[in-house]
Order: sequence, then C-alpha cells, then structure tokens
Amino acid sequence: MSTFSGDQIAQVNNPDPFAPPVWRSPVYHTPGWIITIVQAWRLLEAIVGFLLRHPLLDVAAAVILVTWLNLSWPGLILVAAVVLVTLVAWRWRWPAGFSRFITRPVLGKWRRWHYQRHWAAVMTIGRLAPAYQGRLLLPVLGKVSSTPYTDRVAVRLVSGQSAADFANRAENLAHGFGAMVCRVRTARPGALLLELVRRDALAAIIPALPVHPHVNLKALPVGRREDGSPWLVRVHGTHVLIAGATGAGKGSIIWSLVRAMLPALRSGLARILAADPKVMELAYGRAIFDTYGCHACDPLAIVTMLETAVTDMQARAGLLAGKQRDHTPTVEHPFVVVLVDEVAFLTAYLPDKAIRERVKAALATLTTQGRAVGYCVVAALQDPRKEVMSIRNLFPDRIAMRLDEPEQADMVLGDGARDRGATADLISSDPSIGAGVAFVRLETDPDPVRVRAAWVSDDDIRAMAADCAAQPEPELAPDVLTIEAGAAA
Ligand SMILES: Nc1ncnc2c1ncn2[C@@H]1O[C@H](COP(=O)(O)OP(=O)(O)OP(=O)(O)O)[C@@H](O)[C@H]1O
Ligand SMILES: [Mg+2]
Repeated sequence: MSTFSGDQIAQVNNPDPFAPPVWRSPVYHTPGWIITIVQAWRLLEAIVGFLLRHPLLDVAAAVILVTWLNLSWPGLILVAAVVLVTLVAWRWRWPAGFSRFITRPVLGKWRRWHYQRHWAAVMTIGRLAPAYQGRLLLPVLGKVSSTPYTDRVAVRLVSGQSAADFANRAENLAHGFGAMVCRVRTARPGALLLELVRRDALAAIIPALPVHPHVNLKALPVGRREDGSPWLVRVHGTHVLIAGATGAGKGSIIWSLVRAMLPALRSGLARILAADPKVMELAYGRAIFDTYGCHACDPLAIVTMLETAVTDMQARAGLLAGKQRDHTPTVEHPFVVVLVDEVAFLTAYLPDKAIRERVKAALATLTTQGRAVGYCVVAALQDPRKEVMSIRNLFPDRIAMRLDEPEQADMVLGDGARDRGATADLISSDPSIGAGVAFVRLETDPDPVRVRAAWVSDDDIRAMAADCAAQPEPELAPDVLTIEAGAAA
C-alpha cells in the first residue's frame, strides 16, 4: 500500500497551470493487524487496571469461582447465606461501623455513577467546560461521599478556573443534577467540593432529643445538621451568641442546651445562672434554675446576679492561678453557664443607663476572663448590630437564625458568610418550616453549615422541671461529664 506525502499530491489532477496550489494532508493506512494488537493491548490494560483497583471484587469473584468449581449450587447458596447473615448481624450490632464501611461507600459509588452520567452534559451546557486549542476541557469528577440527605462531590478544576465560576453557576448545577441546592466549598488549590442537597433533613420539626446520661461540654447535642448528622454545640472554653429575629426559635436552642446539660447539673458539676428580662422564656422552667443555679428577671436582680458571677469568677481565678491552665469541673468549682435571653434589652434598651453600663461591664468581664476558669456566657438577641450589642465580637461561637436583612448574616458569622451560603434572611418565617433553623460555622470548616435545633416543647420543659423538683439533691455519679474535643459548632 503506498503512502503519499503532502508534496507529492499537490495539484494532482488539476489541469489549470495558474490555480493556487492545494495541499492535502498525507494519508497513512495502518494495517489491520496492528490495529487489532493495539486494541487488544488496551483491553488487557483496562482489565488489569480494573482488577488492581477493585481487590475486594477480585476476592469475591475468586471465592465464587472456587465454590462453584468445588461445591456447585449448594455451595454458592451457602456462601450467599453466610454473607447475608454477617451483614445483617454487623448492621444490627455495630450500626455506626456498618454505615461507615458499607452503607456510605456503596451510596457514594451509586451516586457517583449518577453524576458521571450527567457530568459532561451539565458541565458543557452550564458553561463550565472551557475551550482550549479547539478542544473542550471538562473539570474532573472526583470522589463522591453521600449521606441520605446530601452528596459531597470532589471536583478538580480546569487550569484557570476558580471556585467563583462554579458559585456563579450553582443554580445550573443544582437543576442539572436534580438537587435542591448546590453550594460550592473550596477544598485545596485547584480543587473544590460541590455540596448538593438532595433532601432537606431539616424540613420537619425535630422532637426534643433524649437526655444522654454522659455529658460532653464540648459537644452538647442540640439538633441536626443539614447532612443528617447531629448538631453539637461547644460550651466549654467558649461563649455562644444566638441571633435571630422574633419567633426565630432562640428558645429552642437555649432549652436544648439546658436539656443536654441536665445530668451534669444533677451531679453538681455544672450550674446555670439564668437572666430572663422578658420573663416569658426561661420562667417556664424556673424550677431547674432555682435548683441548679439561679434565676433573675428584674434588671436589678439580673445585674446583681451577673456582678456576683464576676466576683466568684475572679475569686476562682485567684484560687486556680498557677495550678491549672484549663478548668476541669468539680463539685467545688462547677462549670457555670451564664444564660442571658434578650441581652439587647439589657445592654441597649433599658431606660436606666447606670444598670445598662453595669450589665455591659459584667458581661464583658465574664466573656473576656471566663473561658479558662469554667464560665461560659450564652446570650440570645434579636438584632445583631454593633449599636445594640457592642461586645458581640467577644463571643467566639455565634449562631445566625432567621434574620431580617441579608447583611446581618455577615454581622453574626463574619465577613463573607452570606456569600458562602449563610442565607439567614431567606429562612422561612413559617414556624413549622423555619423555626429553629440556623447557620453556624463549625471549627473544622470555614463554610457555614445549615442546622436546626430540636424543639423542646412546653411539656418537655415541664417534665424536666418536675424531674429536678423530685431529686433536688446533687447525686454525684462517676463518668457524668467530659470535656473532650468534639466536632462542635
Ligand atoms: N426548633 C423549633 N422547631 C419547631 N418550632 C419551633 C422551634 N423553635 C421554636 N419554634 C416555634 O416558634 C415559636 C417561637 O419560638 P421562640 O419563642 O423560641 O422564638 P424566639 O426566637 O425566642 O422569639 P422572641 O425573640 O420573640 O423571644 C415557638 O412558639 C414554637 O412554636
Ligand atoms: Mg425568646
């Protein structure tokens, strides 16, 4: 078979001597046997690669083959029965491990297949596949990790793309992949994570969580995160500010915290000083605070309680100075939570300026000096502006519930929080859908996470109060309290 070069076929068969030269590419005809060898080699490469990448599948296939050869059908049925029983027992006995090693990976693989099928089309139509030198370059689909509610899809960017390009097309991606919402999380240079929410884990009201006999002050269960995992709030070694418009459900966070701490209160290792200027919220479970701490509604009583707390805290700091750097709760020196509902009323709206200033001074002292000696301030307010709450930056952990204006999310969670997905102003004002919903920043993640607090109903509070009235004496049980680091907000 002959091969032509471009020179040889120039102007071939053109009788016009003045015609401009026409150049054609040379044509090479590869022999059929070379094509067969190359394709066979590629097939072999793909098969070996697949076998090397799936060792578990290889073992399973080998077991099936050996059983079939030796024992035929009865053997295969026996193997299937053993595997099934093992899986069921594992799922029943160690559900967490089963979910981690079986359910999640299988779900992730299944969901990855879904993304793979739509990937090229969605990227191209969503204009995230740029053209370079005449070719379309697709971002690379990476690992997919799934929960029953969300998928986290790893993506390797095309050189020159940024996370902002994806953030601008988030709506296209959500529609394209059939998700409710798509959020863009940056992972590392050149890569990002798409968080696609398939089902809203927070759509229904979450009933009050069961009281766990073992309290971890660094991870109190308060509700649920958007991916279905528990929302844990840290109170040890921090202060917490809860901001939300009226009816946002601040009460449910406060009561969930109190509920989670009950065993620690009962054992005398923790105390709650409750300031309730609106009288409505905390007074309902007043017996709890009267038994395991203190309760005040009148501004003068509140300021006295706060100032006493400051004095006690400073006395404790004097006692513990030089002995320990971090506070470990004991019956003698319990962990103290100073709970202030409607703090703005005390710091901004109270007519008596002298009391206002005293409250501000006491709260500022508690928040700046209390962390290491076992004092935590949990304050709730409706309006997060600086004029209302000048000391808001003294609270390391902040929770943004439904807010009136878009820029208020940044005031609570820090600059850029709303751009990163904390749309607190869009939370529904319908209590059945939006009450208790909030955005928080987790320690491990710069991006805000959507959460919902469990709803502690009046009956639950009444039961808690009746329970502590029934056993007012502290009962010191070993192993009630830890302050382990947890994945808390
Ligand atoms: N986590 C929740 N889940 C479901 N519904 C809730 C939740 N939290 C609150 N609600 C509903 O919303 C209503 C208002 O809640 P709550 O009193 O806690 O709001 P708030 O933020 O304290 O408002 P305010 O600032 O006016 O005191 C409650 O009566 C209840 O019906
Ligand atoms: Mg309230």
